[in-house]
Amino acid sequence: MIIGSKVILRDKKLADARDDYTWQTDSELAQLDAAPLLVTSFPQYLSDYAGELCYSSSRRRRFAVDTLDGKHIGNCSYYGVDKTKGKAELGIMIGNRDYWDKGYGTDVVNTLVSYISRKTKLKRIYLKTLDSNSRAQECFKKCGFTPYRHLASDGFSFMFMEIHRKQWEQQRTETDNSNHT
Ligand SMILES: CC(C)(COP(=O)(O)OP(=O)(O)OC[C@H]1O[C@@H](n2cnc3c(N)ncnc32)[C@H](O)[C@@H]1OP(=O)(O)O)[C@@H](O)C(=O)NCCC(=O)NCCS
Repeated sequence: MIIGSKVILRDKKLADARDDYTWQTDSELAQLDAAPLLVTSFPQYLSDYAGELCYSSSRRRRFAVDTLDGKHIGNCSYYGVDKTKGKAELGIMIGNRDYWDKGYGTDVVNTLVSYISRKTKLKRIYLKTLDSNSRAQECFKKCGFTPYRHLASDGFSFMFMEIHRKQWEQQRTETDNSNHT
């Protein structure tokens, strides 16, 4: 369990399946994430979900996002871990709209980056978002990510953003210093 200022990141569990199914069958969320809309039935989804929970990989970690009082509001992950190049991709979704624009996404990203910094030797974290997703870009900028590439793929136009270890360590030092003044 990883505790941030507004959120707790924890391992996924079977009881998350209903929320995850609701979010993955939500057309607005699918559009914002440039993801295909899920069309599987819930029983089939649940059966696949149970199987996935048993599968672990050194190339990815997935977390559920809870509020500090235990409400499941989304998910986050890092994946595509490349130890040779020292990089991984970060993913986040706050599925519960009531929690958009209130700083939860920013706290999830900062908390996850801080965890990756402590638990791995990765040097660079990157992510991609649709060019049109201004909310996501603002959130990632607040966490220190900077744009470095645009890519058109499958009819979508993506912005890639990144942060390097040096930057996130500097940010942490600045936060620690301001907390002690
Ligand atoms: C994208 C997401 C992770 C951001 O999390 P969040 O908790 O909503 O973000 P935060 O509140 O931390 O930050 C969002 C910022 O964008 C700003 N914002 C919102 N809409 C905006 C817009 N249309 N244009 C510019 N800024 C906008 C907010 O005001 C806020 O900035 P502020 O704190 O300076 O006021 C979350 O909204 C989400 O998962 N959305 C649905 C799915 C999605 O977009 N998926 C793609 C992820 S790559």
